[in-house]
Amino acid sequence: MALSTGYNRVRTAVFISGTGSNLKSLIKFSKTKKSPISINLIISNNSKAKGLNYAKIFKIKKKILNYKNKNLSEEKLLSILKINNIEMICLAGFMKILSKNFIEKFPGNILNIHPSLLPKYKGLNTHKRALNNKEKYSGCTVHFVNARLDSGKIILQKKVKISRHETEASLAKKILFQEHKLYPKAILKTFNL
Ligand code: GRF
Repeated sequence: MALSTGYNRVRTAVFISGTGSNLKSLIKFSKTKKSPISINLIISNNSKAKGLNYAKIFKIKKKILNYKNKNLSEEKLLSILKINNIEMICLAGFMKILSKNFIEKFPGNILNIHPSLLPKYKGLNTHKRALNNKEKYSGCTVHFVNARLDSGKIILQKKVKISRHETEASLAKKILFQEHKLYPKAILKTFNL
């Protein structure tokens, strides 16, 4: 993606459903000098998402959509994004699948982070499946979002070693630590920085 407006940072929304540790790391990154993005909006489908606290802490606008009706929620979402002049979307633990129609409104400008070395272990329970399959490595991937789940073009990946006594929790923690570094790096890469 090219920086559109001179020195202005690209207005970005982060979509979450839970803890929001990636959201926090993206906000911190967005405040650094080298960041091409600013985070101007936090979207959650879950009113109880812990990550929503970062809206208050960092004074960022937030919107909650209940997603009871997907079409209606997406329509609402599109108008909220438009009103806020959002150009880029970072999915960070967002547990809803965006429709093809929605994705086409932001061509090449929706990113996601996934806790596996894609194309391995798309979808849920990635750590459990990697451990059950006695994998020696796992990791995380930042990719562009397309209409198929966890299948868009890969931007960056980070590999981590699975130790002998690894548990789902320890692996999740290890990978999450890497996710927080990988997402900002991947964003820089999409801007050729
Ligand atoms: C991360 O592992 C991310 O890769 C996955 O969901 C988790 C979200 O964690 N999609 P957090 O809410 O950013 O702490």
